[in-house]
Amino acid sequence: MAIPIYTIEDARARAKRRVPKMLFDYIDGAAGREQLAHENISAFQKIKLQPRALVNVENRKLNKTFLNKAWDLPFGIAPMGLCDLAWPGADEMLASAAVNFNMPLALSTMGSSTIEDTYARAGKNAWFQLYVSGSEESAFELVDRALAAGYETLIFTVDVPHVAPRVRDLRNGFKAPLKIGPKQFLDFALHPQWSIRSLLQGVPALVNVTDNTPGKGEFKRDSGRGGVDWDFLQRLRTHWPHNLVIKGVMSVDDAVKMKQYGADAIYVSNHGGRQLESAPASITVLPLIRAAVGNDFPLLIDSGFRDGESIIKALALGADFVMLGRPFSYAIGAYGQQGLNTTVQLLADQISAAMAQIGVVEVESISDQVLFSN
Ligand SMILES: Cc1cc2nc3c(=O)[nH]c(=O)nc-3n(C[C@H](O)[C@H](O)[C@H](O)COP(=O)(O)O)c2cc1C
Repeated sequence: MAIPIYTIEDARARAKRRVPKMLFDYIDGAAGREQLAHENISAFQKIKLQPRALVNVENRKLNKTFLNKAWDLPFGIAPMGLCDLAWPGADEMLASAAVNFNMPLALSTMGSSTIEDTYARAGKNAWFQLYVSGSEESAFELVDRALAAGYETLIFTVDVPHVAPRVRDLRNGFKAPLKIGPKQFLDFALHPQWSIRSLLQGVPALVNVTDNTPGKGEFKRDSGRGGVDWDFLQRLRTHWPHNLVIKGVMSVDDAVKMKQYGADAIYVSNHGGRQLESAPASITVLPLIRAAVGNDFPLLIDSGFRDGESIIKALALGADFVMLGRPFSYAIGAYGQQGLNTTVQLLADQISAAMAQIGVVEVESISDQVLFSN
């Protein structure tokens, strides 16, 4: 059966019907009145590509080498906590897509699969994303587990010193680990497919950070993460021998300093609008950071990518690689593995179709020359 996902909005609309409301809202929601989440998407409309004619574009190539690995696509899967909330088995689906399409999959500290299981499923396509909460010792335990498992890219997320109030989560009483009271029970009862499967497979949990050792306590999603600073970054840099990516960077000054501290790449992101509602769209900040860190320093970006043309625009404005979050969760919530595969292919096809229009044969060669300017 052909999966009817022709835009990311198609996947979102079906996921909204199939996934319990509280969980769809957790995925879809953002900080405050959610204006930045919309701005992240609409900001792309102001950026135009330059159509070109009579270029032989028959053999277009989407592959890209980034952080010492050859990928088949210029985009990957952003780290998301508790992906299995979108649909039971989502983590396996993401790993399978990452391997089959040869794209990166970032596992969150708050993931619903362990560091070790994810590496076993996705191998060198897996990256590990670190949140630091509680003791530095427990953070380095996670880092050491990632190192022992074989990961070669560590993403250190720095834009959650405090989990921002998200209105939908507050209204719905969303908590991680999940708490199911009478209000939530009705929501789950109205979505029996999700609920029965989750009961059979086990309710998603924060498997990497739940520690029942007496005195250690649990890492709760809303526990403080504000204790980390530049000194910690220095120690992390000394400790981690492979690629160190810093995620959630929206300041030119921070980016320059992180480069000086030995980061291997900077990941421009406003967390999909989930943290500071009054922040700018990440695509707006990208060219400023590119200008400040120089032409050759590796840059990733996410937040608001919903089609292939947006990905091309980011590559033209200085990104080396693009990550997407919610679109893949919507796709899984809508149609499971087939939905995810269709969505990855859709984005790839959209990039390829747009490359033909702008006279570009290789993703590797996209530059600001493809942007329209009057
Ligand atoms: C449900 C959900 C959970 C997320 N959890 C994490 C996380 O655990 N760690 C992290 O660094 N970013 C997390 N993010 C942010 C994503 O990595 C990414 O920055 C964001 O989704 C990009 O915006 P987009 O959803 O518009 O593509 C999460 C985002 C969503 C939607």
